[in-house]
Amino acid sequence: MGRVSGKIAMVTGGALGMGRSHSLLLAREGAKVVVTDVNEAAGQATVDEINAAGGEAIFILHNVASEADWKRVVAAAVEHFGRIDILVNNAGILIMKPLQDTTEEDWDRIFSINAKGVFFGCKTVVPAMKDSHKGSIVNISSIYGLIGAPSAAAYEATKGAVRLLTKAAAVDFAPFGIRVNSVHPGVIATTMTKDILADSSATKAMLGTTILERPAQPEEVSAGVLFLASDEASFVTGSELVIDGGYTAQ
Ligand SMILES: NC(=O)c1ccc[n+]([C@@H]2O[C@H](COP(=O)([O-])OP(=O)(O)OC[C@H]3O[C@@H](n4cnc5c(N)ncnc54)[C@H](O)[C@@H]3O)[C@@H](O)[C@H]2O)c1
Repeated sequence: MGRVSGKIAMVTGGALGMGRSHSLLLAREGAKVVVTDVNEAAGQATVDEINAAGGEAIFILHNVASEADWKRVVAAAVEHFGRIDILVNNAGILIMKPLQDTTEEDWDRIFSINAKGVFFGCKTVVPAMKDSHKGSIVNISSIYGLIGAPSAAAYEATKGAVRLLTKAAAVDFAPFGIRVNSVHPGVIATTMTKDILADSSATKAMLGTTILERPAQPEEVSAGVLFLASDEASFVTGSELVIDGGYTAQ
Protein backbone atom coordinates (compact mmCIF):
# COMPACT_ATOMS: atom_id res chain seq x y z
CA MET A 1 0.00 0.00 0.00
CA GLY A 2 1.58 3.28 -1.12
CA ARG A 3 1.34 6.54 0.80
CA VAL A 4 -1.02 8.06 -1.81
CA SER A 5 -2.64 4.88 -3.09
CA GLY A 6 -5.83 5.41 -5.05
CA LYS A 7 -5.38 9.17 -5.30
CA ILE A 8 -5.37 11.18 -8.53
CA ALA A 9 -2.50 13.69 -8.69
CA MET A 10 -1.82 16.47 -11.18
CA VAL A 11 1.72 17.90 -11.42
CA THR A 12 2.35 21.01 -13.53
CA GLY A 13 5.78 21.38 -15.10
CA GLY A 14 6.14 17.61 -14.75
CA ALA A 15 8.42 17.21 -17.76
CA LEU A 16 11.73 18.11 -16.16
CA GLY A 17 13.49 18.87 -12.88
CA MET A 18 11.51 18.68 -9.68
CA GLY A 19 8.13 18.26 -11.41
CA ARG A 20 9.38 15.08 -13.05
CA SER A 21 10.67 13.84 -9.71
CA HIS A 22 7.38 14.67 -7.91
CA SER A 23 5.44 12.83 -10.63
CA LEU A 24 7.63 9.71 -10.38
CA LEU A 25 7.45 9.58 -6.57
CA LEU A 26 3.68 10.15 -6.39
CA ALA A 27 3.22 7.37 -8.95
CA ARG A 28 5.57 5.06 -7.05
CA GLU A 29 3.50 5.67 -3.92
CA GLY A 30 0.29 4.61 -5.67
CA ALA A 31 -1.19 7.77 -7.24
CA LYS A 32 -2.47 7.96 -10.80
CA VAL A 33 -0.68 10.98 -12.21
CA VAL A 34 -1.61 13.68 -14.72
CA VAL A 35 1.66 15.22 -15.92
CA THR A 36 1.25 18.63 -17.57
CA ASP A 37 3.82 20.88 -19.23
CA VAL A 38 4.56 23.08 -22.26
CA ASN A 39 7.32 20.61 -23.16
CA GLU A 40 5.41 17.77 -24.79
CA ALA A 41 8.33 15.44 -25.58
CA ALA A 42 9.85 15.54 -22.10
CA GLY A 43 6.42 15.41 -20.44
CA GLN A 44 5.51 12.31 -22.42
CA ALA A 45 8.88 10.79 -21.40
CA THR A 46 7.97 11.25 -17.71
CA VAL A 47 4.65 9.53 -18.35
CA ASP A 48 6.31 6.69 -20.30
CA GLU A 49 8.72 6.13 -17.40
CA ILE A 50 5.83 5.90 -14.92
CA ASN A 51 3.79 3.54 -17.09
CA ALA A 52 6.84 1.34 -17.85
CA ALA A 53 7.37 0.95 -14.09
CA GLY A 54 3.80 -0.32 -13.65
CA GLY A 55 2.20 3.00 -12.67
CA GLU A 56 -0.58 4.89 -14.41
CA ALA A 57 -0.07 8.35 -15.90
CA ILE A 58 -1.20 10.55 -18.75
CA PHE A 59 0.35 13.68 -20.28
CA ILE A 60 -1.64 16.81 -21.15
CA LEU A 61 -0.09 19.79 -22.94
CA HIS A 62 -0.62 22.82 -20.69
CA ASN A 63 0.50 26.41 -20.44
CA VAL A 64 -0.19 27.34 -16.79
CA ALA A 65 -0.33 31.05 -17.72
CA SER A 66 -3.61 30.51 -19.60
CA GLU A 67 -6.91 30.20 -17.71
CA ALA A 68 -8.54 28.66 -20.78
CA ASP A 69 -5.80 26.01 -20.80
CA TRP A 70 -6.39 25.29 -17.11
CA LYS A 71 -10.11 24.73 -17.75
CA ARG A 72 -9.36 22.39 -20.66
CA VAL A 73 -6.70 20.44 -18.74
CA VAL A 74 -8.74 19.98 -15.54
CA ALA A 75 -11.76 18.89 -17.60
CA ALA A 76 -9.61 16.36 -19.51
CA ALA A 77 -8.11 15.00 -16.27
CA VAL A 78 -11.56 14.62 -14.70
CA GLU A 79 -12.87 13.00 -17.88
CA HIS A 80 -10.02 10.46 -17.70
CA PHE A 81 -9.69 9.78 -13.96
CA GLY A 82 -13.00 11.06 -12.50
CA ARG A 83 -11.61 13.65 -10.07
CA ILE A 84 -8.40 15.27 -8.79
CA ASP A 85 -7.16 14.72 -5.21
CA ILE A 86 -3.72 16.32 -5.36
CA LEU A 87 -2.49 19.34 -7.33
CA VAL A 88 1.21 20.23 -7.30
CA ASN A 89 1.57 23.75 -8.72
CA ASN A 90 5.21 23.29 -9.67
CA ALA A 91 5.72 24.89 -13.14
CA GLY A 92 7.91 27.96 -12.98
CA ILE A 93 10.59 29.99 -14.70
CA LEU A 94 13.55 32.00 -13.44
CA ILE A 95 14.69 35.37 -14.76
CA MET A 96 18.02 36.44 -13.26
CA LYS A 97 18.31 40.24 -13.44
CA PRO A 98 18.90 43.02 -10.94
CA LEU A 99 15.73 44.97 -10.19
CA GLN A 100 16.98 48.06 -12.03
CA ASP A 101 17.41 46.06 -15.26
CA THR A 102 14.09 44.19 -15.02
CA THR A 103 11.68 45.24 -17.76
CA GLU A 104 7.91 45.42 -17.60
CA GLU A 105 7.88 42.54 -20.07
CA ASP A 106 10.10 40.43 -17.74
CA TRP A 107 7.82 41.24 -14.81
CA ASP A 108 4.62 40.38 -16.68
CA ARG A 109 6.06 37.17 -18.14
CA ILE A 110 7.33 35.74 -14.88
CA PHE A 111 4.19 36.77 -12.98
CA SER A 112 1.96 35.17 -15.62
CA ILE A 113 3.62 31.77 -15.09
CA ASN A 114 4.89 31.70 -11.48
CA ALA A 115 2.07 33.60 -9.75
CA LYS A 116 -0.97 33.82 -12.03
CA GLY A 117 -0.42 30.16 -13.03
CA VAL A 118 -0.69 29.13 -9.37
CA PHE A 119 -3.78 31.32 -8.85
CA PHE A 120 -5.48 29.74 -11.89
CA GLY A 121 -4.52 26.27 -10.66
CA CYS A 122 -5.94 26.77 -7.16
CA LYS A 123 -9.13 28.28 -8.56
CA THR A 124 -9.76 25.84 -11.39
CA VAL A 125 -9.13 22.62 -9.49
CA VAL A 126 -11.63 23.26 -6.67
CA PRO A 127 -14.71 21.79 -8.41
CA ALA A 128 -12.71 18.65 -9.27
CA MET A 129 -11.60 18.24 -5.63
CA LYS A 130 -14.33 19.38 -3.33
CA ASP A 131 -16.70 16.40 -3.60
CA SER A 132 -14.12 14.06 -2.06
CA HIS A 133 -13.59 16.58 0.81
CA LYS A 134 -9.96 15.48 1.02
CA GLY A 135 -7.98 17.54 -1.50
CA SER A 136 -4.40 18.70 -1.16
CA ILE A 137 -2.81 21.54 -3.12
CA VAL A 138 0.97 21.92 -2.88
CA ASN A 139 2.30 25.23 -4.21
CA ILE A 140 6.00 25.40 -5.02
CA SER A 141 7.43 28.69 -3.78
CA SER A 142 11.14 29.05 -2.92
CA ILE A 143 13.46 30.27 -0.20
CA TYR A 144 13.30 33.38 -2.39
CA GLY A 145 9.67 33.70 -1.34
CA LEU A 146 10.97 34.14 2.21
CA ILE A 147 14.18 36.16 1.84
CA GLY A 148 15.85 38.32 -0.78
CA ALA A 149 18.96 37.59 -2.85
CA PRO A 150 20.79 39.48 -5.59
CA SER A 151 19.55 39.67 -9.19
CA ALA A 152 16.18 37.96 -8.99
CA ALA A 153 13.74 40.64 -7.82
CA ALA A 154 10.84 39.70 -10.09
CA TYR A 155 11.30 35.96 -9.36
CA GLU A 156 11.34 36.66 -5.62
CA ALA A 157 8.19 38.79 -5.89
CA THR A 158 6.38 35.90 -7.63
CA LYS A 159 7.48 33.43 -4.98
CA GLY A 160 6.42 35.78 -2.18
CA ALA A 161 3.03 36.03 -3.90
CA VAL A 162 2.76 32.22 -3.96
CA ARG A 163 3.55 32.07 -0.24
CA LEU A 164 0.66 34.34 0.74
CA LEU A 165 -1.75 33.11 -1.95
CA THR A 166 -1.26 29.68 -0.36
CA LYS A 167 -2.41 30.94 3.05
CA ALA A 168 -5.40 32.75 1.50
CA ALA A 169 -6.40 29.61 -0.41
CA ALA A 170 -6.00 27.49 2.75
CA VAL A 171 -8.53 29.76 4.50
CA ASP A 172 -10.99 29.90 1.58
CA PHE A 173 -10.81 26.17 0.79
CA ALA A 174 -10.94 24.75 4.33
CA PRO A 175 -14.77 24.45 4.18
CA PHE A 176 -14.32 22.17 1.13
CA GLY A 177 -11.85 19.91 2.96
CA ILE A 178 -8.99 21.10 0.73
CA ARG A 179 -5.60 21.70 2.39
CA VAL A 180 -3.16 24.15 0.75
CA ASN A 181 0.52 24.40 1.66
CA SER A 182 3.67 25.90 0.19
CA VAL A 183 7.10 24.31 -0.26
CA HIS A 184 10.23 26.46 -0.19
CA PRO A 185 13.19 24.70 -1.80
CA GLY A 186 16.71 26.04 -1.52
CA VAL A 187 19.30 25.37 -4.24
CA ILE A 188 18.26 22.24 -6.15
CA ALA A 189 20.15 20.69 -9.09
CA THR A 190 17.71 20.91 -12.02
CA THR A 191 17.53 22.33 -15.54
CA MET A 192 16.67 25.69 -13.98
CA THR A 193 19.94 25.92 -12.02
CA LYS A 194 22.22 24.05 -14.45
CA ASP A 195 24.01 27.18 -15.69
CA ILE A 196 24.33 28.69 -12.22
CA LEU A 197 25.74 25.46 -10.78
CA ALA A 198 28.15 25.18 -13.73
CA ASP A 199 29.67 28.54 -12.75
CA SER A 200 31.89 27.99 -9.72
CA SER A 201 31.75 31.57 -8.38
CA ALA A 202 27.94 31.72 -8.69
CA THR A 203 27.70 28.30 -7.02
CA LYS A 204 29.98 29.42 -4.19
CA ALA A 205 27.82 32.50 -3.64
CA MET A 206 24.56 30.50 -3.67
CA LEU A 207 25.85 27.71 -1.47
CA GLY A 208 27.80 30.01 0.84
CA THR A 209 24.91 30.19 3.28
CA THR A 210 23.68 26.62 2.83
CA ILE A 211 24.66 24.88 6.07
CA LEU A 212 24.79 21.48 4.36
CA GLU A 213 27.18 22.97 1.74
CA ARG A 214 25.67 21.30 -1.33
CA PRO A 215 22.73 21.63 -3.70
CA ALA A 216 19.91 19.12 -3.17
CA GLN A 217 18.68 16.55 -5.64
CA PRO A 218 15.03 16.94 -6.78
CA GLU A 219 14.04 13.77 -4.87
CA GLU A 220 14.89 15.49 -1.57
CA VAL A 221 12.12 18.02 -2.28
CA SER A 222 9.70 15.39 -3.62
CA ALA A 223 9.77 13.69 -0.20
CA GLY A 224 8.26 16.85 1.32
CA VAL A 225 5.73 17.23 -1.48
CA LEU A 226 4.63 13.61 -0.97
CA PHE A 227 4.10 14.20 2.75
CA LEU A 228 1.94 17.31 2.16
CA ALA A 229 0.01 15.56 -0.61
CA SER A 230 -0.75 12.51 1.55
CA ASP A 231 -3.27 12.00 4.35
CA GLU A 232 -0.30 11.94 6.77
CA ALA A 233 -0.52 15.75 6.58
CA SER A 234 -4.24 15.79 7.46
CA PHE A 235 -3.81 18.62 10.03
CA VAL A 236 -1.33 20.63 7.94
CA THR A 237 -2.73 23.57 5.98
CA GLY A 238 -1.58 27.11 5.27
CA SER A 239 1.93 26.08 6.29
CA GLU A 240 5.40 26.54 4.77
CA LEU A 241 7.73 23.59 4.36
CA VAL A 242 11.30 24.85 3.94
CA ILE A 243 13.68 22.32 2.31
CA ASP A 244 16.88 24.30 1.94
CA GLY A 245 19.81 22.58 3.65
CA GLY A 246 19.72 25.31 6.26
CA TYR A 247 20.05 28.24 3.80
CA THR A 248 17.56 30.40 5.71
CA ALA A 249 18.63 29.25 9.18
CA GLN A 250 21.24 31.97 9.68
N1 LIG B 1 15.84 24.58 -8.92
C1 LIG B 1 15.83 25.30 -7.82
O1 LIG B 1 16.89 25.53 -7.19
C2 LIG B 1 14.54 25.83 -7.28
C3 LIG B 1 14.56 26.36 -5.98
C4 LIG B 1 13.37 26.83 -5.44
C5 LIG B 1 12.18 26.75 -6.15
N2 LIG B 1 12.20 26.24 -7.41
C6 LIG B 1 10.91 26.17 -8.09
O2 LIG B 1 10.58 24.81 -8.30
C7 LIG B 1 9.77 24.69 -9.48
C8 LIG B 1 10.41 23.68 -10.43
O3 LIG B 1 11.69 24.18 -10.77
P1 LIG B 1 12.81 23.29 -11.47
O4 LIG B 1 14.08 23.71 -10.87
O5 LIG B 1 12.41 21.87 -11.48
O6 LIG B 1 12.70 23.92 -12.93
P2 LIG B 1 12.97 23.28 -14.38
O7 LIG B 1 13.27 24.43 -15.26
O8 LIG B 1 13.95 22.18 -14.27
O9 LIG B 1 11.54 22.67 -14.74
C9 LIG B 1 10.42 23.53 -14.87
C10 LIG B 1 9.36 22.84 -15.72
O10 LIG B 1 8.27 23.78 -15.85
C11 LIG B 1 7.86 23.80 -17.21
N3 LIG B 1 7.22 25.07 -17.54
C12 LIG B 1 7.80 26.28 -17.71
N4 LIG B 1 6.88 27.20 -18.07
C13 LIG B 1 5.69 26.55 -18.11
C14 LIG B 1 4.36 26.95 -18.41
N5 LIG B 1 4.07 28.21 -18.78
N6 LIG B 1 3.37 26.04 -18.33
C15 LIG B 1 3.64 24.74 -17.99
N7 LIG B 1 4.88 24.30 -17.72
C16 LIG B 1 5.89 25.20 -17.78
C17 LIG B 1 9.15 23.56 -18.00
O11 LIG B 1 8.88 23.12 -19.32
C18 LIG B 1 9.85 22.51 -17.13
O12 LIG B 1 9.45 21.20 -17.47
C19 LIG B 1 9.66 26.11 -10.06
O13 LIG B 1 8.45 26.69 -9.63
C20 LIG B 1 10.86 26.81 -9.45
O14 LIG B 1 10.67 28.19 -9.39
C21 LIG B 1 13.34 25.79 -8.00
